[in-house]
Amino acid sequence: MNPKITLFEEKIAEAIDNVFTESQPRTLFDPAKYTLSLGGKRLRPLLTLMAADLFDKASDDVIDAALAIEIFHNFSLLHDDLMDKADLRRGHPTVHKKWDQNSAILSGDAMVIEAYRYIAKVPKSQLREVIDLFSTTAMEICQGQQYDMDFEKRMEVSESEYLEMIRLKTAVLIGCALKIGAIIAGASCRDADCLYEYGINIGLAFQLKDDLLDVYGNPETFGKKIGGDILCNKKTFLLIKAIKNSENSQREALKKWILASDFDPDAKIIFVKNIYDELNLKVITENLIEKYYLASLDCLSSVSVSEDRKKDLIELSENLMYREK
Ligand code: IPE
Ligand code: IPE
Ligand code: MG
Ligand code: MG
Ligand code: MG
Repeated sequence: MNPKITLFEEKIAEAIDNVFTESQPRTLFDPAKYTLSLGGKRLRPLLTLMAADLFDKASDDVIDAALAIEIFHNFSLLHDDLMDKADLRRGHPTVHKKWDQNSAILSGDAMVIEAYRYIAKVPKSQLREVIDLFSTTAMEICQGQQYDMDFEKRMEVSESEYLEMIRLKTAVLIGCALKIGAIIAGASCRDADCLYEYGINIGLAFQLKDDLLDVYGNPETFGKKIGGDILCNKKTFLLIKAIKNSENSQREALKKWILASDFDPDAKIIFVKNIYDELNLKVITENLIEKYYLASLDCLSSVSVSEDRKKDLIELSENLMYREK
């Protein structure tokens, strides 16, 4: 296993022990402990550690920031699953299913508070800049999530509105994870900004891939319900394209399913997926993912450290393109 992941798992286990294991009431902290212990890819903290490593900064010096970002990400999942009515996360029941809705709200809040406690531990000389970026990012995620919710209720959403929504809900946290690693490592503003832009492009590709896996993923490995986005009329790239590219009768039938309030969930998933297949939307989405992946490499190439040092990041972003979960 990547030594950075091993270190991070050690530190997050300590954090879980310190904060989420002893405190009372258990009904507040057990859901947080449960979620953080279920793992996940740990993508964002890994990016923070790798960004710092580009500038020769030891992982130990950025670990608190990495913990803050992962705890914040996990908080966002508790609220996101409630908003998306999702019953499964990382192959296990979501918090609002295993406990209840109020637990998902309040345990999520407790996690945000804990995330801020960790981010406040970064060295004083960089604290202001890091907290500003972290808070701006947190607000942008709320904005993105609200657009995501608003778009569910709209029939027409443009591709550019979609891209802005996923930039906000997903890409900015990935950019932020990288930039915070760079800031703490003492990188130049220019390098920190290039890494942020690298993260934005990786993040757009990442959410597009998430949308794709929600339809075409393997239920054994994906860890979330396949077809969940279709059931809640999520304006994913695929659905937006389907509404736009379908011919008249196909579009009318699609709209009927979108507007239906009483329907057989499996039948809806099969119907919509068929349209995606007919319109070749898997390939169209994969091409767009590739476009953002290539754009991300361009941004990374502008970072002024040797190409050799960038190998880990390049390998990681390539793996994300081919991920199954
Ligand atoms: C899920 O993020 C939320 C999205 C932005 C799609 P991840 O896919 O990184 O979730 P985990 O942490 O690996 O479970
Ligand atoms: C999640 O987008 C973005 C945030 C959690 C902020 P999704 O709703 O697509 O993420 P998943 O698919 O539930 O992981
Ligand atoms: Mg969701
Ligand atoms: Mg969501
Ligand atoms: Mg999703």
